[in-house]
Amino acid sequence: MSKSALDVKAYAKLNISLDVTARRPDGYHDVLTVMQSVELHDDIEIRRSPGRGARVVGDIGNLPRGGRNTAAGAVFEFFSYTGITEEKITVELYKRIPVRAGMGGGSADAAAVLRGLDEMFETGLAQTELAEIGSRIGSDVPFCVMNGAALAEGRGEMLTKLPSLPECCIVICKPRFSVSTRTLFGRLDCGKIQRRPDTAGITDALKNGSLTDAARRMYNIFEDVIRHGDEIARIKGALLGLGALGAVMTGTGSAVFGIFDDGGAARTARETLRREYVECFLTSPHP
Ligand code: C5P
Repeated sequence: MSKSALDVKAYAKLNISLDVTARRPDGYHDVLTVMQSVELHDDIEIRRSPGRGARVVGDIGNLPRGGRNTAAGAVFEFFSYTGITEEKITVELYKRIPVRAGMGGGSADAAAVLRGLDEMFETGLAQTELAEIGSRIGSDVPFCVMNGAALAEGRGEMLTKLPSLPECCIVICKPRFSVSTRTLFGRLDCGKIQRRPDTAGITDALKNGSLTDAARRMYNIFEDVIRHGDEIARIKGALLGLGALGAVMTGTGSAVFGIFDDGGAARTARETLRREYVECFLTSPHP
């Protein structure tokens, strides 16, 4: 029997590397990025009732309203793809993933809602279909439908699955300031990118299961574009000083993460950074 309520998890993503190769005529950019999902997640409850439309409620104050909310967007796009009407969907978000941090929180929520609705309405959509619907909501949603690790190209929707990072601890630190993805892409001059990540080296390291080789190659071209580059560099330096094998900013920021092969060092790093930064997390790859 089809369900009237469902709980789903929306896993955060991190960019192990992020490169931008060109500005596109449609206003987006072509990216070349290795993404990894992590255990840190939002909890989502989806309920259906007679009526129409979508209502999104959450445990944080500044949820985007109406169509700008990715979870509401997911309900709308799912209904428009499947032709389902005459249902009202309520989405309750329990946010754990920091917002405007480069961790794909909104994209993860949208992807989880799509997966949840597919189960709830027993529509049996393929992962590729869910990813296609997701790409209408945001560039990172197709990856969040899939989870694990992948090389993403194009706007972010062209995905090649990769083996996940080997078992490790990941310490994430979000500075107080937040970043608008659109603004940072807008400030990027593709002709002036001086340093780029070794994307092929990272994909090889994942295929070979080498945590050290992947971690020490991590780099994000937006670290040279963001206004608060000094603070990003300082957090990276702190993570490396506390034993991280590598550290990098994720997405368009502002969160920075370090990869540790030693759980004790990772816990110490989180506690140390927490003295200065409220939003610090200890997590691990979500395979
Ligand atoms: O796709 P999404 O809505 O997450 O993107 C937000 C903004 O980031 C876009 O409006 C665009 O300005 C920028 N962006 C881009 N190229 C990408 C992804 C995002 O220019 N590949």
